[in-house]
Amino acid sequence: MIVAIDGPAGAGKSSVARALARRLGFRYLDTGAMYRALTWLALQTGTALDDATALARLARERPVEFGAGDAVAIAGRDVTAEIRQAEIDAAVPVVARHPEVREVMRERQRALGEQGDSVIEGRDIGVVVVPHADLKVWLVADPRVRALRRHAERDGLTVATLADELRRRDERDAANTHRAEDAVEVDTTDLSLDEVVARIEGLVRERVG
Ligand code: DC
Repeated sequence: MIVAIDGPAGAGKSSVARALARRLGFRYLDTGAMYRALTWLALQTGTALDDATALARLARERPVEFGAGDAVAIAGRDVTAEIRQAEIDAAVPVVARHPEVREVMRERQRALGEQGDSVIEGRDIGVVVVPHADLKVWLVADPRVRALRRHAERDGLTVATLADELRRRDERDAANTHRAEDAVEVDTTDLSLDEVVARIEGLVRERVG
């Protein structure tokens, strides 16, 4: 069974997908981490961020690996912490917009998803990566709440700055963010993490009867 969770930045996708996977005993696949790790490697190796062919080659030759917990590695390096830095936040949409790069990533995401019951989180999962997903969730939240959640995670920036950053990220990722027609929308604005997870778990249990 595959559960696809898509939505804009800061809607709670990662926390929800991770907790849901744990609850269901499914694998959790964070597709954003794959684009982030590739971006980290591109910066390390001096690969131009506008060179789609070189980036796609890098993606093919250096597959992202997921370890225990949230561990992410590429080219033999653990990059779990590095890929969450502001430098990567800024560069990743540039890397993720190349169709050649997305094709490599999507193939790998499909292959990983086929390894067993999975919760796959991203922007284009329900529409492009796994259109046959058993359940598609479109996660949304009020912009102010999204900024407040980021604020709790990151020191030093004001809520207004974070709200601005989220708006810019939404714009930059818009072309690759797709809501499936058959997705169930879950608005996380007034819900706790547990409530969101319980709601989606309920939807999963309905589908499996
Ligand atoms: O969800 P995130 O912030 O970790 O995603 C990192 C970047 O990758 C962001 O720019 C959106 C992009 N992304 C994408 O284009 N397609 C996906 N399936 C997942 C993420």
